[in-house]
Amino acid sequence: MAVKVALGADHGGYELKDVVRDYLEQEHYELIDLGTYSSEAVDYPDYAVKVGEAILSGKADLGIMICGSGVGACVAINKMPGIRAGICHDTFSAHQGREDDDANVLCLGARVIGHQLALEVVKTFLNAKFSGAERHVRRLAKVHEIEQRYLIKA
Ligand code: RB5
Repeated sequence: MAVKVALGADHGGYELKDVVRDYLEQEHYELIDLGTYSSEAVDYPDYAVKVGEAILSGKADLGIMICGSGVGACVAINKMPGIRAGICHDTFSAHQGREDDDANVLCLGARVIGHQLALEVVKTFLNAKFSGAERHVRRLAKVHEIEQRYLIKA
């Protein structure tokens, strides 16, 4: 089944988001572009939530969230239980993050990485798969346990 990708960015990341979107369209990925769509200043948490919601609701399998540095986007989206986001500005981290850590969101810093390398990182991230290795399943269970422990109980 085709991988569905949710894309989001703030004003710092929207240009790179458009480059990524054009690439994904060309490669026939199913994608949801959740904005922003201009250089007008917006707040990255608002777009991080849109990308996270798309994944948690099953509308997307994976997400790509872009801001200026990648940091704000990554901090914000990792607050959502079930989201495992990592900033990857190299292809090693991009495939290792999927294979070992089952990352479901790639965060990029548009002011850090050039377009061509960003596309290589995106390609690598989307093509990699979680290994399912016992040690990684065990570690992810511990990550999940931390998430549960610190969730605010209603
Ligand atoms: C916005 O100017 C900038 O703070 C944002 O894009 C991002 O880099 C935050 O981490």
